[in-house]
This record gives sequence, structure tokens and C-alpha cells, in this order.
Amino acid sequence: MNKQHQRITSLVICSILLLLQPFHVHPHTVCIIGSGIGGASVAHFLRRYSDPKTIGQIRIFERNGVVGGRMATVTIAGETFEAGGSILHPKNYHALNYTKYLNLQASKPKHADDSLSLGIWDGHKFVYKTLNSKSNLPIIRRLVSFANSIIMLLRYGVFSLFRMSSFVEVAVNKFLRYYEVFESRPVFESVEGMLKWAGLYNLTRRTLGEELVEVGLSPLLIQELVTIITRINYGQSVNISGLAGAVSLAGSGGGLWAVEGGNWQMAAGLINRSDVVLHLHEEIESVSYLGDVYELNSTEGKSYNCQVAVVATPLDELNILFNPGISIPPRKLQHTHATFVRGLLNPAYFGLDEISDIPELVGTIESVDLPFTSISILKQHEKDMTYKIFSRKPMADALLDDIFSLRVETIKINWAAYPHYHAPETYAPFILDGKHLYYFNAFENAASTMETSAVSAENIARLILLRLSGQVDYSSPNLQSFSNDSAENHSEL
Ligand SMILES: Cc1cc2nc3c(=O)[nH]c(=O)nc-3n(C[C@H](O)[C@H](O)[C@H](O)COP(=O)(O)OP(=O)(O)OC[C@H]3O[C@@H](n4cnc5c(N)ncnc54)[C@H](O)[C@@H]3O)c2cc1C
Ligand SMILES: *[C@@H]1O[C@H](CO)[C@@H](O)[C@H](O)[C@H]1NC(C)=O
Ligand SMILES: *[C@@H]1O[C@H](CO)[C@@H](O)[C@H](O)[C@H]1NC(C)=O
Ligand SMILES: *[C@@H]1O[C@H](CO)[C@@H](O)[C@H](O)[C@H]1NC(C)=O
Ligand SMILES: *[C@@H]1O[C@H](CO)[C@@H](O)[C@H](O)[C@H]1NC(C)=O
Ligand SMILES: *[C@@H]1O[C@H](CO)[C@@H](O)[C@H](O)[C@H]1NC(C)=O
Ligand SMILES: *[C@@H]1O[C@H](CO)[C@@H](O)[C@H](O)[C@H]1NC(C)=O
Ligand SMILES: *[C@@H]1O[C@H](CO)[C@@H](O)[C@H](O)[C@H]1NC(C)=O
Repeated sequence: MNKQHQRITSLVICSILLLLQPFHVHPHTVCIIGSGIGGASVAHFLRRYSDPKTIGQIRIFERNGVVGGRMATVTIAGETFEAGGSILHPKNYHALNYTKYLNLQASKPKHADDSLSLGIWDGHKFVYKTLNSKSNLPIIRRLVSFANSIIMLLRYGVFSLFRMSSFVEVAVNKFLRYYEVFESRPVFESVEGMLKWAGLYNLTRRTLGEELVEVGLSPLLIQELVTIITRINYGQSVNISGLAGAVSLAGSGGGLWAVEGGNWQMAAGLINRSDVVLHLHEEIESVSYLGDVYELNSTEGKSYNCQVAVVATPLDELNILFNPGISIPPRKLQHTHATFVRGLLNPAYFGLDEISDIPELVGTIESVDLPFTSISILKQHEKDMTYKIFSRKPMADALLDDIFSLRVETIKINWAAYPHYHAPETYAPFILDGKHLYYFNAFENAASTMETSAVSAENIARLILLRLSGQVDYSSPNLQSFSNDSAENHSEL
């Protein structure tokens, strides 16, 4: 090698080092739009999986005055209840870990035990109704519970019920792969890749109804019990994808729990412990890529620059201006109207004589003229009760006056609750612009729950760190990536 050549080579090396230097000196700043479980979890895992040399300031923007998003409580008659995301599964390991880490208490949701009486209402009559035991004697309660099991087995068939629970168990076990250690669990660049790796992708290609017919469930079980569950959990029929359906059915089993005092405290606690600058009452209106940073403009007339931007809210009903523009598949959100009533149901509305004849949980089947999805008792007071009603449309006061004989207090919440599911399902990309603009809620088309949000957020945090490690000296555990095409291998990153 001649001298001239050597000088050029060392010059090039010097310039490369100079170019790289700022990344060594200045840690990356991250802006997260949304303070729900997703945004809070991304911040948490970014801190847990990196050091301050890699990730510097993290800002979270929240347009509301409180954190938690779709995890929120409502206070009626002086008592607090979950208004949005309410139940957690015993195998929701991130949520369990958060609860422990944040010194929160896990509690069983009120009245979610097996003794809850259930009725399936078709708009005219109860097509199915469990016996309700008001007895304080455990032996009577056990006999009633046994009788209820027999009634259920007779109506829906023992094999059908068994096949339903094994369908759910198989899906849950596949989902558990997302808790595997880094060494065996790649970083995913797309929702498709993430689902394929766990063996869950096929479940998003067909509807729950189709899947359940194939595993051999009786039509009656699908039309009634399964339908009331998908309607309660996702406000939709058995035409949702098999995966959203399996998640929904898993949320109707035993051992369900919630965070005492409100699930939103998981988001609050994670944000508090992740060294985050939290901007409440600040809505992001635009995200512009300026070459090496994203400029986020807010309704407060302020601008923030960050090297990494994470959208942690569904984009479907927002008009955040992206510059340059982004393109994601169209998606409709299912609105669920949650109406809380302190008062008393009118037994006559259900063709019954006594209020005690009305089941504690009234579910409904698919029928065009049914004005509500479910009504359940949250709390029995001395003389009246607190109820929660879900419906696809707002509950008009005149309708409420038909259903209730007494109404002391009413609170109505309109949630842009979860995606309207389809099969086959389509997905937005996790990486919106091929650079450092991430879309965490792309995973919601698989299923929308607090835990799936945490699982998706954990992957997004790893994906961010993996992709930043192309620029910085990043010495965290060996990360490897997994795109939707399993043949692709990005471990060179
Ligand atoms: C009625 C209902 C019942 C449910 N039941 C359950 C259940 O029993 N179990 C379960 O696990 N899940 C349940 N879910 C689903 C669960 O609540 C959600 O999947 C989860 O909370 C979503 O979290 P997230 O962080 O993705 O989004 P979100 O919680 O929606 O957070 C997004 C945040 O971004 C904010 N935001 C939006 N745009 C902007 C902007 N431009 N600038 C700044 N901030 C912005 C929003 O205000 C919001 O706080 C339920 C949901 C609903 C609505
Ligand atoms: C939960 O926390 C324990 C202890 O910190 C950890 O070993 C485990 O991996 C965590 N689980 C998940 C799902 O993060
Ligand atoms: C998914 O479906 C494809 C095509 O029908 C099949 O080849 C594959 O084995 C299925 N995967 C799983 C995990 O069931
Ligand atoms: C479910 O899908 C089938 C086939 O597309 C359709 O006929 C039916 O009306 C749908 N049911 C509901 C409740 O949307
Ligand atoms: C934040 O966390 C600290 C412990 O790290 C705790 O003392 C404090 O009360 C928390 N603040 C809030 C608002 O939760
Ligand atoms: C964001 O704000 C900056 C500073 O006020 C301004 O120069 C820029 O044009 C704004 N961007 C958009 C997209 O409005
Ligand atoms: C993989 O993702 C890309 C873009 O995200 C998409 O165009 C392609 O069709 C996907 N491939 C498969 C096999 O899903
Ligand atoms: C990616 O490549 C590495 C190293 O060659 C290999 O160990 C790993 O199994 C590959 N991963 C996938 C998903 O193919």
C-alpha cells in the first residue's frame, strides 16, 4: 500500500469515527405519543434493556389530564370501578410482574367468581339461565353450582365444551412463547412475523366461527355462549378472527384478576419509575422527519425533537399530520358504550316478576333489534345496585327508563374501544417509515388487551434498541431480529 493510499485510508477512518462520535456522546432521545399501558411499557422496557449511554431523555405525551388511556376508572355512588380494560388473565405475566414491581395489589374483580348467575337474552326471552342460589349455606351453593354445570353440559354438549377449552388452551400456550428468554426469542419487525413465530398467525386468517366449527363445536354453543363472550369482550360477533376470539374466550375463564384500585396504576407506576418527562394535556398534532430527528408539534404550540418517535395510540380516529406521509391499512375501531347505572332493573322488561330472577350477568346473542350487549351487577347495595351496561350504540335515556325501574345516577362513556376484527386480518407495520418512527398499536389487530399491549411494547423496545445498535456501541444481550418472512435474518444489524 503506498503512502498516499494510507493517508486516504486513515482520513476516511477518521471521518467515520468523527461521524460516529456524536452518537457515542449523545444518547438517543425518545418521544412516545400516548400514556396507556403501551406507551408506559415501551418506556419501561427501554430503560430495563439499555443504559443511559444509549437512551437519554424519554418524553411521553398525553392529551388527557391523566395517564392510562383505555385503563380508567369511573366513580359512581362514591365507589370506583373499572370503566375500560378491567380483567387480567392468570397467565398475563407482564401485568403480574408490573403489579409486583410497583407494589400494587392484585384482586379478584368483584362478582367475577363462578357463583355469578348468567342469563342469555335473545330480546324476548332467556334462552339459557343458570340457577341462582341466594343461600348462605355452602352445601346449597355447591349443589346449585353442580346443577348449573349439568344444565350447561346438557345444553351445549360435554364434548363441545371440552373442545372449546382445549382450543383456548392451545392458543394460550402458543402465546406463552412471547415470554421466552432473548436467546430463543427473536426481535420481530412485523406483526405477521411475530404471530408466525408463535404459531398464531393462522388463527388470524379465519373467523372464530370458522375455527370453532372446524374443531367440532356445536352450533348452539357458538351461537349462544361463545357469542355472548365475544360480544362482551370485543363488542363483536363470532366473525372476529380466531385469535381475537381465543383471547376473548380466555378472558372468560377462571382465576381472573385486576389491580386493586384500578389497572391504570400500572401505567402510572411504570412512567413514574422509568425516568420519563411526562407531558399531560399535551396533544401531538404533527410528526415531521427533519433528517436525523423527528419534530413533534403539540397543541401547546411547542416543538420537541427526538431521534426516536413511538406512536402508542391507535391512529385510526386521529388526524396527526405525518411529514412525510405514512400509509397504513384502513382499520375501523369498534366503539363500546359503557353505561354505569346506580338503581334497579325492571323485571317486567325481561318478562319476569321478581328482580331477584334477573341473572347477575345478562349476555345477549346477535340480533339486530337488541339495544344492548350485556348488563352486569357490579355491586349490590342495601336497597339498589350498581350496574354496568355495554352497548354498540349509546343508551338513550328513554331506553334506560324502560330497562330500569329506578335510576339514581347514570354515567355514559363512549370508548373507541378496540379494532373491528376481520379475517383474514391485515396489519400496519411496526416501523412506519423505515427509520425510527414506530407504531406500537399495529399489534392490536391480533388482539387488544392490556397484556398483549405489554408484549408488543416489549418487542418494540427491543426493536428500537436493535436498530439503534446499528449506530451506537450497544452492548446489551445479543439481539436478533425476525421479520415476517422467516427466511430473512437481520442478526447482522
Ligand atoms: C370497554 C373496554 C373494555 C376492555 N376490557 C379489557 C379487559 O377486560 N382486559 C384487557 O386486557 N383489555 C381490555 N380492554 C382493552 C385494553 O384496555 C386496551 O387493549 C389497552 O388498554 C390499550 O392500551 P394502549 O396503550 O395501546 O392504548 P390506550 O390506552 O388507548 O392509550 C393511548 C393514549 O394515547 C393518548 N393519545 C391519543 N392521541 C394522542 C395525541 N395525539 N397526543 C397525545 N396523546 C394522545 C390517549 O389519550 C390515550 O391515553 C378493554 C377496552 C375497553 C375500551
Ligand atoms: C418477571 O420478573 C422476573 C423477576 O424480575 C423475571 O425473571 C421475569 O423474566 C419477568 N417476567 C417477564 C414476563 O418479564
Ligand atoms: C398454517 O397454515 C399453513 C397453510 O394452510 C400450514 O402449512 C401451516 O402448517 C399452518 N401452521 C400452523 C402453525 O398451524
Ligand atoms: C358474519 O359473516 C357472515 C358471512 O360473511 C355474514 O353472513 C353474517 O351476517 C355475519 N354476522 C354478523 C353478526 O355480522
Ligand atoms: C413514584 O415512585 C416512587 C418510588 O420510586 C414513590 O415513592 C412515589 O410515591 C411514586 N409517585 C407516584 C406519583 O406514584
Ligand atoms: C412545528 O413547529 C415548528 C416551530 O414552531 C414550525 O417551524 C414547523 O413548521 C411546525 N411543523 C408543522 C408540521 O406544523
Ligand atoms: C412482509 O411484510 C411486507 C411489508 O411489511 C409485506 O409487503 C409482505 O407482503 C409481507 N410478507 C408476508 C409473507 O406476509
Ligand atoms: C439467524 O442467524 C443466526 C446466525 O447465523 C442463527 O443462529 C439464527 O438461528 C438465525 N435466525 C433465524 C430466525 O433464522
